[in-house]
Amino acid sequence: MSRLRILTLFSLGFFGLLTAYLYNLRTAMAPNIRTEDVAKLGAIVVGSGLAGLSAASQLISHDIPVRLLERAAKPGGNSIKASSGINGAPTKYQSVVDDAFYADTVKSAGKAMSAMTAHREKLIGTLTNSSSAAISWLVDTKGIDLSKVAQLGGHTFPRTHRGAGQTPPGFSIVSTLLKSLKESPIFHLQTSCTVTKVLQADHRVTGVEYACDDGEKQELHGPVIFAAGGFGGDAEGLLAQYRPDLAGYPSTNDPRPGTQPLLTAVGAQLIDMDLVQVHPSGFVDPANPSSPLKFLAAEVLRGEGGLLLINGKRFINELETRENVTNAIVATAPTSQSPKQWTVQLVLDEGVYNAAKSHIDFYIFKGLMRKTTIADLGEDALESIQQYASAAAGKEADSFHRTAFAHWALTDPTPESVVYTGIVTPVVHFTMGGVVISDRAEVLNGDGEKIEGLWGAGEVTGGVHGGNRLGGSSLLECVVFGRTAGDQCAEYINNDSK
Ligand SMILES: Cc1cc2nc3c(=O)[nH]c(=O)nc-3n(C[C@H](O)[C@H](O)[C@H](O)COP(=O)(O)OP(=O)(O)OC[C@H]3O[C@@H](n4cnc5c(N)ncnc54)[C@H](O)[C@@H]3O)c2cc1C
Ligand SMILES: *[C@@H]1O[C@H](CO)[C@@H](O)[C@H](O)[C@H]1NC(C)=O
Ligand SMILES: *[C@@H]1O[C@H](CO)[C@@H](O)[C@H](O)[C@H]1NC(C)=O
Repeated sequence: MSRLRILTLFSLGFFGLLTAYLYNLRTAMAPNIRTEDVAKLGAIVVGSGLAGLSAASQLISHDIPVRLLERAAKPGGNSIKASSGINGAPTKYQSVVDDAFYADTVKSAGKAMSAMTAHREKLIGTLTNSSSAAISWLVDTKGIDLSKVAQLGGHTFPRTHRGAGQTPPGFSIVSTLLKSLKESPIFHLQTSCTVTKVLQADHRVTGVEYACDDGEKQELHGPVIFAAGGFGGDAEGLLAQYRPDLAGYPSTNDPRPGTQPLLTAVGAQLIDMDLVQVHPSGFVDPANPSSPLKFLAAEVLRGEGGLLLINGKRFINELETRENVTNAIVATAPTSQSPKQWTVQLVLDEGVYNAAKSHIDFYIFKGLMRKTTIADLGEDALESIQQYASAAAGKEADSFHRTAFAHWALTDPTPESVVYTGIVTPVVHFTMGGVVISDRAEVLNGDGEKIEGLWGAGEVTGGVHGGNRLGGSSLLECVVFGRTAGDQCAEYINNDSK
């Protein structure tokens, strides 16, 4: 064979291979790709929640091929379950001038602001300053309805956006982004594939090792955006390590190991790993009481007048903060160790039912609540409910100093009175901590320097929320830092290919 023919064959082979990688995307290991050429293969995104989908959308808008690896069989992560909405200010749906988003976020972050102050201020400034553009991207570019604005706890103004219809915001945002990505020939999603290692050579990240259902480990090469979510569902792993008091707790998050160790293995720095949001009320499903995954019982049930009983007795003013209600519950003996949970009865009357009908009908449909009579709630419940009703009617002071009873209507409870009830227990809801990132979503090492070829976005990162995340700000961080990561990674690839 002549030298020319060999060369031609070689280069044809090489370009064929490269094209296959770029445009579809055989995902087997690239043989002997040089570190310098890695970026030409396109970008790797780990995790198909909102952070990963935002990053992927941005990469595709820059014509960069994307290989998205997702551990679960279905895409969407915890993002698809989000029910309250996404923050933004100012937006075209706000009727008030909202200039307090930054200040509210700093206030909610609390004591955590005293360490790495300048870094945190920059992240929060980026989050809040970019929130207007994030909403407008979802609404005007992607066509998602976010026209309803609500005011959640800790917010000075209404700024949490959701759609006007029945579809929850997490579902509508995730499904719309996914649909538009799937229309692109340079987007390739693989589900049931778990990333097990981040690859590094010559001080830059060069790809990932992963295993799909069949179990065999493979490699994929290219710069990496990590968007693998939080560790709220890692009850016996990272949670037990950083918050031993929460070990074994059930969660509203899917049960899965946290991924921060994959990133610290390539030098990433961690922050705020002990700062965890616990919600006082996740439903214990009577059909599957020991599931580690719980469905959230909306706060509105307590707010509209519902009461909480342990062994038939009230134990707190139900309107206290999430933290106080949780503390009061966990001060009692748990009724199960695995998962670690308590048996708290949530009780509503017809008045509360009518005020929160759509929620409660849905919970009844899911088998998480039921309509019954007080006689069915066990010993002591009647007396407790009678006292509560009497306080609600203004006949006596409430022994737990509750003064607002909202829609409670039952004035003379008897064993035959109709009530709506479900069992709830505290659940881990959100992990504030994670890997340290810059305001450009670069994953930083212990010296505060960026790790070449690696970006992070969403709940896997830490530092944006400090001690307490404001409702609606996690979807926002996914969009803001996910899109930034996509832009930065595209720039890195384009510079590298010049
Ligand atoms: C019930 C519920 C309601 C919520 N409501 C709201 C709300 O209204 N507003 C708000 O702002 N926030 C809300 N949150 C919080 C918010 O939804 C999450 O913080 C956010 O969605 C996290 O997005 P993410 O993209 O970072 O991670 P996720 O959406 O969790 O996605 C991460 C993905 O990465 C995958 N993954 C993990 N490890 C690997 C691996 N090794 N290899 C490959 N893939 C991997 C996971 O399977 C997952 O699909 C809610 C959370 C829950 C649970
Ligand atoms: C956010 O915007 C304000 C007002 O324009 C500006 O002072 C601040 O520096 C910005 N913060 C960041 C991190 O961009
Ligand atoms: C929560 O508990 C703390 C400490 O007991 C108390 O000072 C505070 O007032 C409580 N918060 C509410 C809203 O009741």
